Amino acid sequence: MSKRVAIIGAGPCGTAALRAFQSAKQNGEEIPEVVCFEKQGDWGGLWNYNWRTGLDEFGEPVHGSMYRYLWSNGPKECLEFADYSFDEHFGKPIASFPPREVLADYIKGRVEKAGVREWCRFHHPVRNVEYHEATDNFTVTAHDLVNDKRVKETFDHVIVANGHFSTPNVPYFEGMDKFEGRVLHAHDFRDALEFKGKDVMVVGASYSAEDIGSQCWKYGAKSLTACYRTNPMGFHWPDNWETKPLLTKIEGKTCHFKDGTSKDIDAIILCTGYLHHFPFMEDELRLVATNRMWTPDLYQGVAFEPNPKVMYLGMQDQFYTFNMFDAQAWWARDVIMGKIEIPSDADMKAHSKKWLDREAMLETDEDMIWFQGDYTQELIDQTDYPSFDIEGVNKAFMDWEHHKHDDIMGFRDKAHKSLITQTQSPSHHTKWTEAMDDSMAEYLKN
Ligand SMILES: Cc1cc2nc3c(=O)[nH]c(=O)nc-3n(C[C@H](O)[C@H](O)[C@H](O)COP(=O)(O)OP(=O)(O)OC[C@H]3O[C@@H](n4cnc5c(N)ncnc54)[C@H](O)[C@@H]3O)c2cc1C
Ligand SMILES: NC(=O)c1ccc[n+]([C@@H]2O[C@H](COP(=O)([O-])OP(=O)(O)OC[C@H]3O[C@@H](n4cnc5c(N)ncnc54)[C@H](OP(=O)(O)O)[C@@H]3O)[C@@H](O)[C@H]2O)c1
Repeated sequence: MSKRVAIIGAGPCGTAALRAFQSAKQNGEEIPEVVCFEKQGDWGGLWNYNWRTGLDEFGEPVHGSMYRYLWSNGPKECLEFADYSFDEHFGKPIASFPPREVLADYIKGRVEKAGVREWCRFHHPVRNVEYHEATDNFTVTAHDLVNDKRVKETFDHVIVANGHFSTPNVPYFEGMDKFEGRVLHAHDFRDALEFKGKDVMVVGASYSAEDIGSQCWKYGAKSLTACYRTNPMGFHWPDNWETKPLLTKIEGKTCHFKDGTSKDIDAIILCTGYLHHFPFMEDELRLVATNRMWTPDLYQGVAFEPNPKVMYLGMQDQFYTFNMFDAQAWWARDVIMGKIEIPSDADMKAHSKKWLDREAMLETDEDMIWFQGDYTQELIDQTDYPSFDIEGVNKAFMDWEHHKHDDIMGFRDKAHKSLITQTQSPSHHTKWTEAMDDSMAEYLKN
């Protein structure tokens, strides 16, 4: 097979694509030449902690949005790779909500075992992807940062896997420019200890607001205020945590809210989400998307309908993560290898419409979880990705949701059961609220 495939990004999605091709090779199939361009110096994507904010040592925007002491926000049993279990990687059962370093080690372990590092070009941000109709292929331009050289190569397919939780969505609130405290976006949040003893406000009502607020609370913030635009988070928060409707304006240190109340604040953390950002894609190849459950213009949630030789991985809002990325990567691989046919434009649109109609009916987190489980199942049914108990994963998500509503600071103390190996996780040795050391060595001491 003389085809060439470019993968942009070596995070969980890009490494899923690497493993998908390697597994076909392992099964004796002839595979295309795969080149993965990665902007950072290592694979793992967001799961690599980066202490830097702003620009990196090469002047590139820092990709990392993860911070110190971040623990998985869902049970690891809901994201376990079907072809590489936690038991296989760690050699023993481990607890259900691993800190970042533990999950990074797991993600990397699978591709290290697959032996595909030589397919990657690290420190190579992709600058441009252009399609040539006459030759039906693409020119990918990347920058070799170490040697400060542009490289241009030709590919038959492009898999875009650069993530969509890295370019911050930063709203402006009146008076922000004169705020007498610190203001930052969640993307630049690194260490909750910076906010010890402070009156902290998080703006937003989703996972970043929940987790960054909880972190600041855990590491000794004096008070937390969470303000929301549409709906509040709705958990039972500790006594020094207040929920307010949206911020309207700021005067000095005083923040005013929609209900007419006000409060003095030391630090505002904008947990206002991220932008899907593909500056390197030519206009006609660029996905325009927001963070939602079904992404328009992607057939099977993956193939770019205007030009299905471009595939986008992991572009949906995410309950399912690593195992859904795998299902997508295996599907993309099989399209590229000619095992799955792309239908007519009308059929692609009809398929997407079915999912868009269902998306419009989603009301609760539970609905969204079943929706994403069904989507993942539909992809898995089309490839040789090992089948697993998706209904069991959905049920584990339901338990997790209930645990969060029972005790938002205690849900990470619960233990779940693997749907891949059936191993029952041990309870972690220390309650999350008391576990200040998030190192892998400490976590694995069970
Ligand atoms: C703060 C935070 C916490 C999270 N916590 C969890 C969690 O607990 N559990 C969970 O399941 N999910 C979590 N997520 C969701 C997360 O999106 C996924 O787990 C996963 O990292 C997505 O993988 P990805 O490969 O799509 O993107 P990323 O992990 O973002 O990887 C994208 C890769 O592309 C590279 N790249 C970007 N631009 C270019 C370019 N131009 N050229 C070349 N390479 C490029 C980047 O350097 C990066 O390595 C979290 C997300 C955030 C922001
Ligand atoms: N491991 C962890 O614990 C952890 C921690 C942090 C993040 N994450 C992950 O990171 C990903 C991103 O989560 P996220 O919370 O950053 O983004 P998100 O889920 O897209 O949520 C964005 C939030 O910002 C609000 N918002 C957007 N624009 C606003 C504006 N102009 N004014 C006020 N509010 C505004 C939205 O409000 P509306 O509701 O009104 O739209 C929403 O609540 C998720 O996949 C999550 O799982 C995980």
